[in-house]
Amino acid sequence: MSRRPMIAPSLLSADFARLADETARIVDADWAHVDVMDAHFVPNLTFGEPVVKAIQAVSPVPLDCHLMIDDPERWAPAYAELGARNVTVHAEACTGDPRDLARTLRAAGSLAGLAIKPGTPLEPYKEVLREFDTLLVMSVEPGFGGQSFMPEVLGKVREARRLVDTGHLQLLVEIDGGINADTIEAAAEAGVDMFVAGSAVYGAADPGAAIAALRAQAAHSFPTP
Ligand code: DX5
Ligand code: ZN
Repeated sequence: MSRRPMIAPSLLSADFARLADETARIVDADWAHVDVMDAHFVPNLTFGEPVVKAIQAVSPVPLDCHLMIDDPERWAPAYAELGARNVTVHAEACTGDPRDLARTLRAAGSLAGLAIKPGTPLEPYKEVLREFDTLLVMSVEPGFGGQSFMPEVLGKVREARRLVDTGHLQLLVEIDGGINADTIEAAAEAGVDMFVAGSAVYGAADPGAAIAALRAQAAHSFPTP
């Protein structure tokens, strides 16, 4: 099956006072990436379910919720229930079996995503991931936009790509952190499907043009089947 690169601009780099307008500037994106931070799992604080619900009501683009929060078992299902397309929880934050949460999220109507921080290995999650729809490989330490891409995580991307291509997993491989014109090709070559980009999209004068340019660059570097 042929793959195509997908772009998820991160609203973390948008103007928080104009979130409806900011989603309208990225109509050509595949998903709008929404970073929920709780000042516990990560040092930073953004917004929670009421604000995401308001974004969901106006966004022309499906929401990709990235929950950088403690106790995802308690909080994540609400994001699926409000209509998010994909809800990603951090493997490091799960207290129970992440598969139970994946089933809950899917039953509530969203896709289920599992995120791993740069220092978290993929190996222990190979079986767990069989019940997930997306794997989010963090390419910066979660918490802040505008950080530098960590190329050392691409080994995990290559391994995830191999597990998908051999049929062990059926999921989208997503990367988050430091994706821009200088780094997207290496990520595409390693096997990413969905590219999160915050500052590279919202820092551009024309976010739509930035999305198109990133997508074209990634497509150029996709491995030919
Ligand atoms: C970081 C967030 C990212 C962030 C990416 O913790 O998860 O989604 O918005 O921003 P850039 O693309 O600027 O690195
Ligand atoms: Zn994110």
